[in-house]
Amino acid sequence: MIYPVVLFGSPLLRKVSKNIEKDYAKLDKLIEDMFETMVVSDGVGLAAPQIGKSIRLFVIDANPMAEDDASLEGFKRVFINAKILEETGEDWGFVEGCLSVPEIREEVQRPSTVTIEYYDENFEYKKETFDGVKARIIQHEYDHLDGVLFVDKVSPLKKKLLKGKLNNIAKGKVKANYKTKILK
Ligand code: CO
Repeated sequence: MIYPVVLFGSPLLRKVSKNIEKDYAKLDKLIEDMFETMVVSDGVGLAAPQIGKSIRLFVIDANPMAEDDASLEGFKRVFINAKILEETGEDWGFVEGCLSVPEIREEVQRPSTVTIEYYDENFEYKKETFDGVKARIIQHEYDHLDGVLFVDKVSPLKKKLLKGKLNNIAKGKVKANYKTKILK
């Protein structure tokens, strides 16, 4: 099932999501649906709040980016109840976009390396360290679980310039080639 993507301006995107239990109803199906929704929307990551569920779950499949960055080949993961333990390395700029914020792409500064613990799709505990673009995608998706969006992290000047566009998105006045909705 393909979900509509919840747009910027929806209060749910600003909530802190909750951990889930191993017996969460139809978790396998939900994960499958999130991958499906992400793929048809041309995304490389999708967090549960973006489909209207305030739970600490996000999926990543960066294989479409592997053409430009071979290190991303095979980088497909499910993160459940993830917790960032440490962010290290120098901040670096990378242009980000978000399915919930269509037509806006801006450079965001973040630390280069992230150590994260999480449960995978089989609810097996993992602790891993990622850097570069892998870390970047994780940091972006993880922020969604805490109600943070990449546009919060751009410079004050850029924020000012984006205001009109963001207001339009919040009113649903935006074109996207995938299904979207405002969740009141
Ligand atoms: Co996003």
